Amino acid sequence: MVNLKSAWFVPLLAAAVLAYPAQEAKRFEKRDESFSTVPSQRFAIFAPKVVIISMFVSEQDVWLEPYCLKNNISIPGLSPLYPYIHCDSDYEVCQVTVGEGGFNAAATTAALVLNPLFDFTKTFFMIAGIAGINPYEGTIGSATFARFARFAVEALGEYPTSLYGTEVFELNADSDTAKIYRALYNYAPANQPSKAVKCDAAASEVWFTGSDLAESFGNFTALMTNGMGHYCATANEDNATLGALLRAALAKLVDFGRIVVMRTASNFDRSPPSTANDAVYGLLYANVGAFDTSLENLVLAGSPFVNDVIKNWEKYNDGRYAPKNYIGDIFGTLGGTPDFGPYGVAN
Ligand SMILES: *[C@@H]1O[C@H](CO)[C@@H](O)[C@H](O)[C@H]1NC(C)=O
Ligand SMILES: *[C@@H]1O[C@H](CO)[C@@H](O)[C@H](O)[C@H]1NC(C)=O
Ligand SMILES: *[C@@H]1O[C@H](CO)[C@@H](O)[C@H](O)[C@H]1NC(C)=O
Repeated sequence: MVNLKSAWFVPLLAAAVLAYPAQEAKRFEKRDESFSTVPSQRFAIFAPKVVIISMFVSEQDVWLEPYCLKNNISIPGLSPLYPYIHCDSDYEVCQVTVGEGGFNAAATTAALVLNPLFDFTKTFFMIAGIAGINPYEGTIGSATFARFARFAVEALGEYPTSLYGTEVFELNADSDTAKIYRALYNYAPANQPSKAVKCDAAASEVWFTGSDLAESFGNFTALMTNGMGHYCATANEDNATLGALLRAALAKLVDFGRIVVMRTASNFDRSPPSTANDAVYGLLYANVGAFDTSLENLVLAGSPFVNDVIKNWEKYNDGRYAPKNYIGDIFGTLGGTPDFGPYGVAN
């Protein structure tokens, strides 16, 4: 039974119901117009100088202690497996784990860059993951820094992304197993000690191994970059991460010239010549021994960059390091003329 005393709100409810169509009508009046909403950092409370992007837990964990990333921030849209962004006490260095695969990488990166509590307009993003390496360009344990990152396989209709990668770093840390495995290759640099190399990453939707696929990736990389790109590292998620960052750059939320893609080699993208059915060998039997090394190398190769950005923040912002090369995707979405691809100057 309705108690009259507690029914005071009924007239209010009726008034609201009556007013509702009027509001609706107002909205419909504007239906034929286009609106653009402007994302705002007006209320941002965090403006990290560096954001490290990891793909899975092992890549994440190597950063937490060295940089005291003890402040966990949860934001909507992160992977349920990786619900926090981890930051240091000054919120200058932060780390996010996007999860494996393109879908996770795109969804998490988009959620991060659109979060209004963060101002990423001056932030340097460093994608830091392990990868398979092309034995003709480097060896296990190496770190690669990319100028071009792109994706292939079913992706002929899709676009590669150019980005600015700099710095060369010295590496160490090596396992005996990795040394033995390297020696199975009768050519350099596969059988040489590891070092930092400047070459490019190709992202595929699935993990791959074997000469046929690896060679195709190399050919496709060269084709899409008018011969400027040297494929050396497999990078499953970078395509999607960069795709989300590109859209954010278009909305002026991030600077596309402040992205570094670093991959340290945990395995070779194809097996040693002695193994006949090499894709199967690489997948099932190869005892590469470089997994832990490649994880340690993420920090060894990545921290000089992170530390330099923090230490020389003013220099990074006075324009002296502004990239001179074309920055952006194959369509010229961010402006400028791509120097690769069918829409580029060499078309
Ligand atoms: C912060 O995140 C780390 C790594 O994800 C986790 O191990 C730790 O328990 C979290 N701390 C708190 C207080 O939730
Ligand atoms: C590249 O990323 C997009 C999502 O951003 C995805 O749809 C596509 O399948 C990816 N392609 C490859 C080859 O990874
Ligand atoms: C890659 O390109 C070279 C040179 O054009 C060609 O000989 C080779 O067959 C190609 N490899 C694959 C797997 O398509």
